[in-house]
Amino acid sequence: MFFPTDSPHGLPHNPFNAIVLPCPIGWISSMDGAGNVNLAPYSFFNAVAYVPPQVMFAATGAHDHGGRFKDTVRNIEETREFVVNIATWDLREAVNASSVNAPHGEDEFDYAGLEKAPSELVAPPRVARSPVHLECVHSQTVPLLDAGNGGPNTAVFGKVIGIHIDDAVMTDGLVDIAKLRPIGRLGYRDYVHVTERFSMTRPVWEDG
Ligand SMILES: Cc1cc2nc3c(=O)[nH]c(=O)nc-3n(C[C@H](O)[C@H](O)[C@H](O)COP(=O)(O)O)c2cc1C
Repeated sequence: MFFPTDSPHGLPHNPFNAIVLPCPIGWISSMDGAGNVNLAPYSFFNAVAYVPPQVMFAATGAHDHGGRFKDTVRNIEETREFVVNIATWDLREAVNASSVNAPHGEDEFDYAGLEKAPSELVAPPRVARSPVHLECVHSQTVPLLDAGNGGPNTAVFGKVIGIHIDDAVMTDGLVDIAKLRPIGRLGYRDYVHVTERFSMTRPVWEDG
């Protein structure tokens, strides 16, 4: 099939989010200026540079937030710090629970039954049970195109200034995917649980 994206696709659900897969999940903790803590998952999320290490996420639509910026975007604009907690198989129900469209100021750590751990370099707390955390400072906010009917689409970028890795997910100095057991988002209501890997050596161009 083919459909121009400004025309109806005729499918039961929009296939767009079932195509660019699997999506890593940035489980983002942040705080507003009054010290209210917030936690929410974002799967328009990725690492985007090594040196300095940088990540980004995009908040979309906000239909369920009355057309306002989502709390995570609003908090990061206000206090310029956030933590990316890695979403794992063991924490999957809490990841989902923390996506609740709670009013601003409600703490999704409490809603999802999660304990906090203090961060080293930033104010927002970490999800204590997550085995890996990226402590970040805001670098850029980029407004994205939007449909003009449901609230802003916004990309937020940050520099990673500190990384926590639980020794329990390391083997011989390497992060061990079988111990980390990260989850990713697929299309619709589906997720992927990463348990297997394979390796490939990149080719090197030989002159002459
Ligand atoms: C696994 C998962 C991934 C999500 N990814 C995104 C995303 O990339 N962008 C977005 O705007 N909302 C995403 N959501 C929905 C937000 O988590 C939800 O709107 C949440 O209430 C936002 O919280 P906040 O206002 O506290 O930031 C996702 C939800 C789930 C369960």
